[in-house]
Amino acid sequence: MSTLDQRSLLETISLTMRFAGLVAVSNFNLQLQKNELVGLIGPNGAGKTTVFNMLTGVYRPSDGKMILDDKPLNDLKPHNITRLGMARTFQNIRLFKDLSVLDNVRLGHHIHFNYGLLATALQTKHFYKEEASTQEHSLELLKIFDLEKYQDLQAKNLPYGAQRKLEILRALATRPKILLLDEPAAGLNHKETEELMQTIQKLRQDFDLTILLIEHDMKLVMGICERILVLDHGETIAQGKPKEIQSNPIVIKAYLGDGGGEAQT
Ligand SMILES: Nc1ncnc2c1ncn2[C@@H]1O[C@H](COP(=O)(O)OP(=O)(O)O)[C@@H](O)[C@H]1O
Ligand SMILES: [Mg+2]
Repeated sequence: MSTLDQRSLLETISLTMRFAGLVAVSNFNLQLQKNELVGLIGPNGAGKTTVFNMLTGVYRPSDGKMILDDKPLNDLKPHNITRLGMARTFQNIRLFKDLSVLDNVRLGHHIHFNYGLLATALQTKHFYKEEASTQEHSLELLKIFDLEKYQDLQAKNLPYGAQRKLEILRALATRPKILLLDEPAAGLNHKETEELMQTIQKLRQDFDLTILLIEHDMKLVMGICERILVLDHGETIAQGKPKEIQSNPIVIKAYLGDGGGEAQT
């Protein structure tokens, strides 16, 4: 194996986020290899979403480094990070509620468009060509979750579970290398959750993706992640294979302190 093969696709080194007095994430070290599906779990307020906000340029880290494909991310704006191949979904759904389902997915593509404002205004040949392929690709994406029948519906009129899926499709439309999913199963029932977890695994294969999956309930990620990192109060308290995490007393204690029995299976 060459050194190139061993290099992580995404790496964070001592990544730290402080908000006035509070250390939300402390010395977070992550190495994501290409095609991995890694879980990031922890009780409420552990710092999981803050990690995503740093990785996607929403927050600028107080300390530490983030490197994607050998490129430092620390000083980049969110849209530039998306262009480099990082896409995310949000814990609280953020769709263009008044736009159609199809348009929500189409908009995801625009991050890579080469035509400028002038081409848009003049509706040049190049503009039409890109629009046509976007349309086609968007419809393909909608098929993943069987949403093509809803393509003309306003996003706000989709059932809740379908809105969550649409968020994932919009992220996929940016053609990411890395997909960051923030509690994608929140609010879904048991059956929907099982289906979603299976689809996430399939997406990884079909789109050659590397996935970092945030989940509050550790049971949900046990079945599909190869590796899990556990955050509590901003600290990485454990990492390893699902089996190791499940029986780790430090992890169980952190979850019990959260008032739930989520550590049990
Ligand atoms: N913009 C912010 N300003 C101040 N505190 C924040 C901000 N964002 C997150 N926090 C705090 O950081 C901690 C971690 O939050 P978060 O990353 O959302 O946790 P999780 O996603 O694991 O539930 C919490 O105590 C939260 O209140
Ligand atoms: Mg969160």
